[in-house]
Amino acid sequence: MTRLVYVLNGPNLNLLGKRQPQIYGHETLADVERDCRGAAAELGLEIRFHQSNREYEIIDWIHEAREVAAGIVINPAAFTHTSVAILDALKTFEGPIIEVHISNVHQRESFRHHSYVTLAASGVIAGFGTQGYTLALQRVARLIGEAK
Ligand code: DQA
Repeated sequence: MTRLVYVLNGPNLNLLGKRQPQIYGHETLADVERDCRGAAAELGLEIRFHQSNREYEIIDWIHEAREVAAGIVINPAAFTHTSVAILDALKTFEGPIIEVHISNVHQRESFRHHSYVTLAASGVIAGFGTQGYTLALQRVARLIGEAK
């Protein structure tokens, strides 16, 4: 069984660290990737880490993950609240999907309270800062079982 997990990031997350640091913190996406790689090594997972500002690219990575991955960790960013297309793509994936939000979306504007992606997610982590990504990887590792 594969131990490959896709970690997918949506629009504007390339600006993490510079973008509204009072909300998203000072860590960059490169820091998040480094933390994810460290956690994955400890959990016996392999990861593919991607970010895009384009909806279709995220959909294409989900389709790719269908063929090769055991799980998906996804922060769809603003597409969370708008994208039926990303939801539909995630619905085609059979393994665990963990939705991550760095901020506590439930404490923010009401349009951030609704997530399409949640309809396909095994679980949601919100408001744990960038630590949410490594917590999500722990959960995926648990859901896919012990390393063989
Ligand atoms: C976010 C929350 C979204 O509402 C927002 O559009 C983002 C980031 C988060 O990680 O807290 O871009 O997904």
